[in-house]
Formats: sequence, C-alpha cells, structure tokens
Amino acid sequence: MKIYAVGGAVRDELLGLPVADRDYVVVGASPDEMVRRGFRPVGKDFPVFLHPDTHEEYALARTERKTARGYKGFQVYAAPEVTLEEDLARRDLTINAIAKDEAGNFIDPYGGMADLKAGMLRHVSPAFIEDPVRVLRAARFAARFGFAIAPETLALMREMAANGEVDALVPERVWQELSRGLMEKIPSRMFRALRECGALARILPELDVLFGVPQTEQYHPEVDTGVHVMMVVDYAAAQNYSLPVRFAALTHDLGKGTTPREAWPRHIDHEARSFELVKALCQRLRVPNDCRELALVVARFHGIPLRAFDLRPETILKLLLETDSLRQPRRFEAFLQACTADFCGRLGYRDAVFVQADFLREAHKATQEVDAGAVARQCDDPTKIRDRVYAARLEAIKAWLGKSGRAGDAG
Ligand code: CTP
Repeated sequence: MKIYAVGGAVRDELLGLPVADRDYVVVGASPDEMVRRGFRPVGKDFPVFLHPDTHEEYALARTERKTARGYKGFQVYAAPEVTLEEDLARRDLTINAIAKDEAGNFIDPYGGMADLKAGMLRHVSPAFIEDPVRVLRAARFAARFGFAIAPETLALMREMAANGEVDALVPERVWQELSRGLMEKIPSRMFRALRECGALARILPELDVLFGVPQTEQYHPEVDTGVHVMMVVDYAAAQNYSLPVRFAALTHDLGKGTTPREAWPRHIDHEARSFELVKALCQRLRVPNDCRELALVVARFHGIPLRAFDLRPETILKLLLETDSLRQPRRFEAFLQACTADFCGRLGYRDAVFVQADFLREAHKATQEVDAGAVARQCDDPTKIRDRVYAARLEAIKAWLGKSGRAGDAG
C-alpha cells in the first residue's frame, strides 16, 4: 500500500502557508488491512480511517459517480485497484488535486502546480458539475487567494446555477461556505464570483438585486448599492472584525433592493425593509443566532449613529435601550463596528474616522455607570422604578453631554 498527502495541505504547503490538518489517500489497501494496522474506521459514506496515533484522516483511493440530485446522490467505488490519478480526478480544482508521496515527490497529473503559480482556479474534470458545493468553494478560494477563475470553470459554474443544481444545496452547506468566505481577506471576491456565474441570484437574491440600485451621490460617491455593500464587507474584513459583524455588514442595506424605482436614489425607511429581509434570509439559511441577532440590530438601526451629534439625549438613550446595549455591551460594540464599516465602506472614506462611534461609546459608558439597583432601592413606589431608572440614565447622558461640549439638542 502507498500513502500520499493530498488536498488543501499540499496546496497550502506549496503556497508557503501554514498547514492545519493533513489528509491522506491510501492506494492499494482494503478496509480490513487498514483495521489490521490499527486505523479506526470513521467514514459513513466512504472508507475513511483515523491514524491510531496522529488521528489524521486516511481515505482509501476512490472514484465517485453521480446517481441522483443533491450531494448524497453519489455512488462511491473504493477498492485496492483504484489509482492515485483516478482519486485525484474526482477532485474539484487542480490546485486541490496535487499529491505528495512519502519521499516528498509531488504528483500533479492535472497541472495544479502551474495553476498555483498562475493564480488560477481551474476544474479538474467535467465531474466538477456533480457537486454544487463546488460553485461556492471556487468562489471562496477566489476570496482567499485572490486567484482568477478559469473561463471554462466559470462556464461550468454558470451551467450549475442555470440548471438549478445550486438550488439543491442544503441551507447548512450554503451557510458553511458563505460564512467561511466572509472570514477570508477580501470577501467581496467571493460574492463577485458568485454573481458572475449567476449563483448569487439563486442563493442570495436579495443581495444580488442591490447591484444596479443607485444611492444619493452626495453621501455615496460609489453610487451603486451593491458596490457599497462589497466595500463595507471588505472594510469589516480588513479590520479583522468578527463573523457576526461581517454578516451584518453584508446584509445591512438589503432594504434598498426593494425601494420603489420612482424614489431612487433615495431610500427612505430602508432600514425597516432591511430588517424584514434579514429575518427571512436568516430563517432560510438557518443562520446561527449570534449572526442573526446582530444583523437584525444593524439592519434596523444603522442609520442612527451617522446622525449621532445631532441627536437629542432622549434619542441617544432610545438607541441605547432599543439595541439592548446595557444588557449586551459586547453586541453594542459589534453594532458600532458594523456602523463604522458602513461609514468607511464608501468611495473616498476608507481612511476616514467614524468619530460618531466613539461618541456613542462614551454615551453608552455614561449610562452604564448609572447604578440601576441603587436607584430602585431609593424608590418607595415599585411602579415608578422603571421611570426613575430611565430618568437617571437620561440625566447621566445629559451630564456627560454637558462635559463633552457637544450640545446634543439639535433634534
Ligand atoms: N474536495 C472536492 N470537492 C469538494 C470538497 C472537497 O474535490 N466539494 C476535495 C479537494 O481535493 C479538497 C479535499 O477534498 O482539497 C479536502 O477538502 P476540504 O478539507 O473540505 O478542503 P480543503 O481543500 O482542504 O480547503 P480548506 O483549506 O478550505 O479546508
């Protein structure tokens, strides 16, 4: 039996990147032989084993044949006579189809090393179309490595979007790939690739329609809403913001996609429409709670921090209460990060400082310093506690505003 390192680990090693987990292919062995050597079988759908000491994955070389729609519809054939080349042929991209033997030689039958050098994502064989997740993977790798997608691969991706293959993806897989793509260095590359092949319109139609929707040039020199959203997401990534912040950045302006054309380039009340669209999207893709909750708060309130200096103390407090900032201070910080990305994710604003965010951080701090318990204890009428606490917090904001030199009474 022969053992080869394969997949992402070989690719990343060739790119000079750190390698986290290694996968191996075993050629010329049977499942019984693997078990005899102490490997632990783990694969449900195909023969994969864990090494007794390193716990790394060893899969028997296999071929796959598509038999039905969906990613379960595969007939897997694993046997000692399946060759390394056959196993590599079933893989998605040439850069992921390079093997390395135990002596350190690379086996590269599909030109993966040349594609790595050229910065090209290219499918290995026409079997690429048998797995719709590969559309998302190719787009995600574009975001990670900044590689271009080969025209012939893009053509296959187009076909998979057009013939409905992409619709067969379960929400969990879509979310898994999207969330990983959002965590890459330049996430917009993933969304642009998905848009180019028509998959974005199937997976995230409410994002796809933002391209071509104009905004007021005075505030948005980039004009196009889709372009703006991509800038916001890339800014969030450049700042190393968390996944919830990046997801909120992606979805904050969805409501602009349903503004009646007559109203363009203005988008009055788009925040309320964003809120509803985000809710539906999160349900459809089964988005985890932390991402969903933040995206909803950002969708609904992202317009307010922009006007922070003009807000009355009552309105500042209203924002702090409606965003639940006192019980969820960390989420409020994430909210401000997303709003900062919204502000800086505009043409010419990348290096601007969103001072309103600091202003609101301070207002938040002033209200946090109010000891609500003490206010409640001093109150002899329990029905008045709520009002007293509110009044104390409002006082705290007013006092802080007085000290800060900002009037905060413009309306
Ligand atoms: N693979 C594939 N088609 C898929 C998923 C995986 O052909 N839909 C193959 C590729 O050869 C890939 C390998 O299986 O390199 C391992 O897959 P996985 O661990 O999911 O991804 P990596 O390529 O290692 O990438 P990442 O760094 O994102 O984990």
